[in-house]
Amino acid sequence: MAFTVAIDGPAAAGKGTISRAVAARFGFAHLDTGLLYRATGARVADGLAPLVAAQSLSPADLERGDLRTPEAGQAASRVAAMPDVRAALVTFQRSFAARHGGAVLDGRDIGTVICPDADVKLFVTASDAVRAHRRWTELADPALTLDAVLEDLRARDRRDSERAAAPLRPADDAVVIDTSEMDIDAAVEAATALVSAAR
Ligand code: C5P
Repeated sequence: MAFTVAIDGPAAAGKGTISRAVAARFGFAHLDTGLLYRATGARVADGLAPLVAAQSLSPADLERGDLRTPEAGQAASRVAAMPDVRAALVTFQRSFAARHGGAVLDGRDIGTVICPDADVKLFVTASDAVRAHRRWTELADPALTLDAVLEDLRARDRRDSERAAAPLRPADDAVVIDTSEMDIDAAVEAATALVSAAR
């Protein structure tokens, strides 16, 4: 297995930004595994059965423009609770990690299920209020209130944490980075230092 960095955590905690920065810094490939579930959820909304939607995902499905909305996030977390959907996506994620010289995968179950032997495991988190504020600013949709975004994140985190199949939780050997009081540079710095130390 190539050098692998697993970055898990709840929505809008900073995983994506940290993952992209770590991948760029070390020349690693990056897979945003949430996109696999978002694309599967979008195909189910189009009328496909969940397992078929997951089994036949193509690169073009991951580039759809409608995957970043709150509705796409909720649809993703509904299909992500289905064990057969999760099982259908395992091989792609593991082979992504194996076929690159170094890889960063971010998601909810990378350190616990997909890459339990990852060289570095981070669990990136932040308070609900901070995460909601970040996501609200990022969405910049005048139709969305901060409260609605907070409720949306909480509902998704609840579903992700309470499901039986690969629930959101830190791996026993993950380092927790709480970004509530950190700016992005400090969070990237902390993650980079941990990866450097493991190489
Ligand atoms: O990370 P992102 O917010 O794009 O993930 C969307 C949804 O996909 C999550 O709320 C979660 O239900 C699901 N997911 C998952 N396991 C992963 C990545 C995402 O269950 N490894």
